This record gives sequence, structure tokens and C-alpha cells, in this order.
Amino acid sequence: MTTPVRVAVTGAAGSICYSMLFRIAAGEMLGPDTPVILQLLEITPAMGALEGVAMELNDCAFPLLHGIEMTDDPNKGFAGANVAMLVGGRPRGPGMVRADLIKINGPIFEGQGKAINDNAADDIRVVVVGNPCNTNALIAMHNAPDVPKERFTAMTRLDQNRTKHQLAMKSGAQVADITNVGIWGNHSNTMYPDFFNAKIGGKAVTDAISDHEWLKGDFISTIQSRGKAIIEARGASSAASAGNAAIEHVRDWFQVTPSDDWVSMAIPSNGEYGVTEGLIFSYPVRCDGAGNYSIVEGLELNDFAKEKIKVTEDQLLEEREVVADLLK
Ligand code: NAD
Ligand code: LMR
Repeated sequence: MTTPVRVAVTGAAGSICYSMLFRIAAGEMLGPDTPVILQLLEITPAMGALEGVAMELNDCAFPLLHGIEMTDDPNKGFAGANVAMLVGGRPRGPGMVRADLIKINGPIFEGQGKAINDNAADDIRVVVVGNPCNTNALIAMHNAPDVPKERFTAMTRLDQNRTKHQLAMKSGAQVADITNVGIWGNHSNTMYPDFFNAKIGGKAVTDAISDHEWLKGDFISTIQSRGKAIIEARGASSAASAGNAAIEHVRDWFQVTPSDDWVSMAIPSNGEYGVTEGLIFSYPVRCDGAGNYSIVEGLELNDFAKEKIKVTEDQLLEEREVVADLLK
């Protein structure tokens, strides 16, 4: 058995975490040989509910769960953390777009970025789930100047998974046959799920699916508005599928991505594919098994794709303007 990994999770008494924490403790994120210590962060009024979550975690008697720490103090919550999963924040309700949450949730990530900077372990890796997650990750990153920028990521894995399901349904394939799904840009109604470079059973999607109008139209808008559709159907935003995606995001960050596939992560742009440097932008990436990732190079982007990527980039630039006062 290795040394326990300290996993800090915010919003730990909320809906996403109620499905996510148990799976982390069961070893589904860091593997069956890696014990974890959960450092659960909440706001003060939710500490009672958090006690209940911890009681349930304890009652599962997970062999890999070597400890649970609970706090409403971010400095304690991130102390010595190796992985930070920033879920806490308000979800949107019916009729809202994710960007409406910027002013409510943005300031949370200023304080948490500082607390990560001052207290986390040197090898900290951060995934932001709380919306709008790209821009919240940008805020956290700017407030943690001592942490290498590439350690800050935001989650577009749910969009990748949604894309796989839609392409499988349309083509009659199994989701396991869908590979090379790249989500570009913002986790929002402008994200671009790149079907041109995706594959079904090793074949180009555009060969496997003849209905190209669907791919260019309804398919893209379904992915872009899937979160909204779930809120309308469930009366609450996606929770179990989001928790699943967050687990897969972190799991795959520490594994070797197969050389013939990739995963989607929103990461700080260094200008790759012409995107403005410094934005937290979702790209197709490959991970090396040691907690590093690199953007897949040399993908062909036609005019259709370039136009879509420009729209989502422009939206992220606008969001960055809105939170300019939170960026150090
Ligand atoms: P929820 O309301 O059920 O839980 C959120 C929890 O965060 C609450 O328990 C709340 O007390 C806590 N919280 C609020 N401020 C906090 C702070 N400063 N520190 C620590 N905890 C804090 O919401 P949820 O359904 O779990 O969703 C959480 C967030 O995840 C929302 O912003 C939602 O929009 C977002 N989300 C993102 C994705 C994605 O794909 N990126 C998917 C689903 C949901
Ligand atoms: C989702 O994509 O399901 C989440 O971001 C929640 C939302 O507000 O859409």
C-alpha cells in the first residue's frame, strides 16, 4: 500500500458529491492500491449535513478510506492536499445560463485559489466543476501564483461522455466504440464537440453517420444544451453524471492515455490552435501517467470547426472581462 493521497473536495455536502465521494473512497478514482484521506470543505451552515455524509462514508467501511477531515475553513480544507476537486458553488436553476452564476460563484474561487496556493502539497492538481467552471478555474489559477498554471483544469469530461452517447445512439454502435472525442472551449452553450476528428469503431464519424446535417445541427446543440435539458427534466442539475465525469477526469489525468485516443480537459491555453493564451480552454489532450498532459497536436480543423472555436473563445474572453476584478 502506498501513502494515502489527500483529496480535498469542496461542496462536499451537495448533490454531486453525494454520488462522487463514495466512489472515490471505493478506489474508483485513484485505483485499488491507493488509500485516500478525504478533506471535505463546506460552508458553515452545511456542516451538519456534511457530518451525515461522513457518517455514511464511515458506515461503508471502505478499506481504502484512511481518514475523513471536515472543515469550513479553506486553509484547513486544502492543507497538504494532492488533489483538489472544486465542486462547491451554486448550481443554475431553470431559465438560467451557466454564465449567470459568475458573480455568485466567482468570488468563491478567489479565496479557494489563495488557500490552495498557501496550503496545498507541492504536487497539487486541481479540477474545477462548479460553474461556470472554465472561468472559475481561471480565477483560482490567478489567485495561486506559486502553483504551476497547468495544475488548474476545469471539467468538460461530462460533455465528452454526452457526445459518446449521442454518437453511439445515432450510429447504433456501443459507447465503447466511440473514440477521439474532443470538446473545445467553454463548458457552456458554445462548446464545440468535434465530430470531424472523432471515430466510431475506428472509422471517421462522418463516414459512419451519413446525416451530416444532424451532426452540424441537432447533435451539437444537444450537447451544448444537455445540462439545461436535465435541469428541465429533473428540476435539478446533473449530479451523478457530473460526479462520474469528475472521477474520470482525475483518474485519466494520472493514467497513460492510449496513443490512438484522447480525453478532453479544459486547461490553460498557451496559444495552441490559435486560442488566446491564458484562457482555460478545453482541448483534446493525452496524459502521460505521471500527472502531466499535453494537447494533441496536428488535428485538422476545417472552417466550420474554426468558426465554432472562435465563438466559444469569444465567450470565454467576455467571461474573463466580467471577472477582471478577481484576477490578480
Ligand atoms: P448543490 O447545491 O447540490 O451543492 C453545492 C454545495 O456547495 C452545497 O452543499 C453548498 O453548501 C456548497 N458550497 C457553496 N459554497 C461553497 C464554498 N464557498 N465552499 C465550499 N462549499 C460550498 O450543487 P451541485 O449539484 O452539487 O453542483 C455544484 C456545482 O457544480 C454547481 O455550480 C453546478 O452548476 C456545477 N456543475 C458542473 C458540471 C460540469 O460539467 N462542469 C456539471 C454539473 C454541475
Ligand atoms: C451540466 O452540464 O449538466 C452542468 O454544467 C449543470 C448545468 O448547469 O448545465
